[in-house]
Amino acid sequence: MTSTQSPRSHSAMGDLSEALKEATKEVHQQAEDTEFMRNFQKGQVSLHEFKLVMSSLYFVYDALEEEIERNKNHPGYAPVYFPAELHRKAALERDLEYFYGPQWRQEIPCPKATRKYVDRLHYVGQREPQLLVAHAYTRYLGDLSGGQVLKKIAQKALQLPTSGEGLAFFTFDGVSSATKFKQLYRARMDAIEMDDSTKGKVLEEAKKAFLLNVGVFEELQEIVSVSAKKNGHLIQEEPELHKRVHSAVPNGPGSAAHRDEKTGPSSRVSASGTSPLRWVVAAALLLVVAAVCMYAI
Ligand code: HEM
Repeated sequence: MTSTQSPRSHSAMGDLSEALKEATKEVHQQAEDTEFMRNFQKGQVSLHEFKLVMSSLYFVYDALEEEIERNKNHPGYAPVYFPAELHRKAALERDLEYFYGPQWRQEIPCPKATRKYVDRLHYVGQREPQLLVAHAYTRYLGDLSGGQVLKKIAQKALQLPTSGEGLAFFTFDGVSSATKFKQLYRARMDAIEMDDSTKGKVLEEAKKAFLLNVGVFEELQEIVSVSAKKNGHLIQEEPELHKRVHSAVPNGPGSAAHRDEKTGPSSRVSASGTSPLRWVVAAALLLVVAAVCMYAI
């Protein structure tokens, strides 16, 4: 890792890192308070919900990292360019293959609020690259902070393997100490040469980035609620998808998917399958009918 000794830019607005933390306090709370995040923190997350959020994050990081690569030499971004330590797209690809199987690209949904976030990332990357640092800050420092708590919760709630499969997104192999890395990242943000007017815009963009995340969580919550209502509170994955996940990774997500349906935290149960008891009762009835007929003859 590189040294934290970076030249600091001075301004009436103070260091960018401090200003960002202060400016986003309220929206951070708002993000934590979304129903989706509140449930998540209580361990109330089903496999269905987790797959949805991971899919949305894939689209977000795909766009974010495409724009970061485009701007890696831009003076407003270069000091915080840490692809080996931070980039998440490849990790999300591994997770999505684990959860959806090899055809995951055709399976994952991109809801409207996620599309809006993606569009904003491309707009910023292509038209206002000096604001890109606000988006990188919002996601990567978040992933290195609360994200580490969410990892443990997801692992426990979904009973994912302790080997880390399905949780690559939350695992930063290139970062040995999240705390130290965040210090380095803040120092690098503070080293970006920026006038106060641009700094003000970066702060506004960071708030916007948080609200885009809030929008994603709110829409996912809505999708989950609607599908729960439609199914009369029984979550049933498409049989084809379920079959494929089971056969693709026999000891992996298939078993998690299975548990999710039966003992998920929101007590979701499987509605599929015919109980063997029914067959026994039907056979006994047939025997009785046959016996009565024989007796009648
Ligand atoms: C359940 C949800 C969340 C929890 C429990 C949580 C928790 C935390 C905690 C404890 C910290 C402070 C870490 C430290 O000072 O070292 C933190 C920082 C941060 N979080 Fe979250 N967070 C959540 C959601 C989010 C979301 C949705 C985002 C944005 C998408 C986010 C972005 C950030 C950022 C950017 C920081 C760094 C603040 C700074 O030091 O400047 N968090 N979070």
